[in-house]
Amino acid sequence: MSIAAAAALRALSCYDDRGSLKGALTLTDIAAFIEGLPKVELHLHIEGTLEPEMLLALEARHGMSLPYASVEAARAAYRFTQLQDFLDLYYQGTSVLRTEQDFYDLAWAYLSRAHAQNVIHTEIFFDPQAHTARGVPFATVIAGIRRALDEAAARHGLTSRLILCFLRHLDETDAQRTLDMALPYRSWIAGVGLDSSEAGHPPSKFARVFARARSHGLRAVAHVGEEGPAPYIWEALDLLKVERIDHGNRAIDDPSLVDRLHGARMPLTMCPLSNLKLCVIKDLRDHPLRRLLQQGLAVTVNSDDPAYFGGYMTENFTAVQSALGLTAAELIQLTRNAIDGSFAGESERAAMTARLAAFARTIY
Ligand code: HPA
Ligand code: ZN
Repeated sequence: MSIAAAAALRALSCYDDRGSLKGALTLTDIAAFIEGLPKVELHLHIEGTLEPEMLLALEARHGMSLPYASVEAARAAYRFTQLQDFLDLYYQGTSVLRTEQDFYDLAWAYLSRAHAQNVIHTEIFFDPQAHTARGVPFATVIAGIRRALDEAAARHGLTSRLILCFLRHLDETDAQRTLDMALPYRSWIAGVGLDSSEAGHPPSKFARVFARARSHGLRAVAHVGEEGPAPYIWEALDLLKVERIDHGNRAIDDPSLVDRLHGARMPLTMCPLSNLKLCVIKDLRDHPLRRLLQQGLAVTVNSDDPAYFGGYMTENFTAVQSALGLTAAELIQLTRNAIDGSFAGESERAAMTARLAAFARTIY
């Protein structure tokens, strides 16, 4: 770690236990610390990394015409008051992804940015139904993403896992058909997840397809408690038998649920800038991340759909540290939680833990 990052970590230790600042701390110090922190991302939709520049480039590649005259016009349209506003634009954006090369380019752009931000391991969601419904073969989607993942491992040592998400606004039969398409690629897929419009689409709708996925050795995660209520989190645990909760903000409403999550050491993959952009919270200072962390929950920080929400991992850590006054120890704990909650193998997790410990040792 650089001398600047070491100084920053000492400076961050100037917060007392309640997050109040005891000593002077410059923005440069914090930036150096967050930059140096080895990061692990567990909640990232690859389709949500489609930056306006690439959207327009792919539109031109395929001779299409989308409603945006410029990169600025596309970015200006990214204003949301709820999850559905975002999803409408997100699915419209996927229409430019057609060939294996498109999926490779998308994934490679994300992986390059992640590496530049010192992300050492990433677990990536993809939404096959958003593509197969347009006639793009499952094989095209997964082959392009997979080629980029292999290249990132070879060139940067950046490890990854791939998680297939079922779109919860579609029916169970569609999800079962998607699982059929995925099974020939079983060795490339670590798990299944559940995303898209949460309200009115409880986890119970997908209990059977998740059971079938688990019977093939796939791990299970689900988006719950983002806009949906705490009972959806109970369903994800009891009916889908998930190993991680994606978002989980609403757990804060139910003390017995907090106890259950605590007892199970259940990771919560929280996404601060996403929550702000989608009006899940009014202000980052209201975010439940620190309160849940202080209650002993295995909270993590992630970027969700960074092209739409204004930031990748570094920007999320920076924003949430500043809003909640997170200490150095808490920032390190967030990364430790992500390593422990990842689907990486034991030796990969041990290597990541050693890397985090080496970062911390240069300070304490
Ligand atoms: N929430 C639910 N579904 C999603 C999201 C999200 O933030 N991003 C992509 N699909
Ligand atoms: Zn998400």
